[in-house]
Amino acid sequence: MKTELETICRKINDRLCALVPSDNALTGEVSQAAVYSLSGGGKRLRPVLMMKFYELCGGKESGNLLDIFCTIELVHTFSLIHDDLPCMDNDDYRRGRLSCHKAYPEAIALLAGDALSVLPFEIISQSAKNGVISYETAAKLTYALSHAIGIEGMIGGQVIDMLSENTQIPEETLYELQKKKTGALISAACEMGCILANADDKTISLAKEYADKLGLAFQIRDDILDVTGTFEELGKPIGSDKEQNKSTFVTLLGVEKAEKLCRELSEQAAKILSQFENSEFLTSLTEMLIDRRN
Ligand code: IPE
Ligand code: IPE
Ligand code: MG
Ligand code: MG
Ligand code: MG
Repeated sequence: MKTELETICRKINDRLCALVPSDNALTGEVSQAAVYSLSGGGKRLRPVLMMKFYELCGGKESGNLLDIFCTIELVHTFSLIHDDLPCMDNDDYRRGRLSCHKAYPEAIALLAGDALSVLPFEIISQSAKNGVISYETAAKLTYALSHAIGIEGMIGGQVIDMLSENTQIPEETLYELQKKKTGALISAACEMGCILANADDKTISLAKEYADKLGLAFQIRDDILDVTGTFEELGKPIGSDKEQNKSTFVTLLGVEKAEKLCRELSEQAAKILSQFENSEFLTSLTEMLIDRRN
């Protein structure tokens, strides 16, 4: 599984940066900033999920869909560039290197994030124009992705995250925060893979059920690692949540209970996968993420 994962990640990495328009001298710096953030490593979890759900739903020959698999990573990278800005989490490192706004002027980093947030829609609509996907599929992908990014998705989650600083929030609010901030893009990744394979509604809701469990487990682990990880492992500052007085699963439950919940959710996620045929890769990936150190 690890070798296959590495091969997929290499393909994604090779393609990601090439998607950024870069042949204009006047706008070159914003392209460089976007490429800088895209090329800084990262687990590439979301495009891998999209590709694997496409295959799980019977999709074949995914080579010409690589650009579409990459769209979710473009969005994720945009969210990280903005997440690190001084007006947000104010973090100076990301993926083992200076954050985008530390390597480039802050305004350029902001605009690089903006550019990466809309590029996916150019890629999806262009793919329909070129006949790689149908217009109907493009519309479905556009809805799933834009909804996951917007006020009812990741952006809404980031707003609740900001509002929850320096205060004790109820448990339900933390769950809502997480479901939007991190869960929405992970869910969109799985859903988009299903859409690309023309899966039926029942399959899509099962994929989303899996993604909800995985997304929650993933954010709980992220919160735990902010306390128990090292900079070398994570490539981003440790203790950032405490510094910003964030509400996290660690502040709510403590590390031990958060660990237990993360494990339980991952097991539930794996169980949902067992309803799909040929889900060995995703099951191994889900198990691997339980103990992740980065
Ligand atoms: C970090 O995401 C931010 C969260 C949503 C928890 P990842 O842990 O997927 O970051 P990369 O892409 O591997 O750097
Ligand atoms: C960020 O959550 C989630 C998004 C970027 C939408 P965090 O602020 O916890 O992510 P890290 O820990 O900085 O990667
Ligand atoms: Mg944040
Ligand atoms: Mg952050
Ligand atoms: Mg975090």
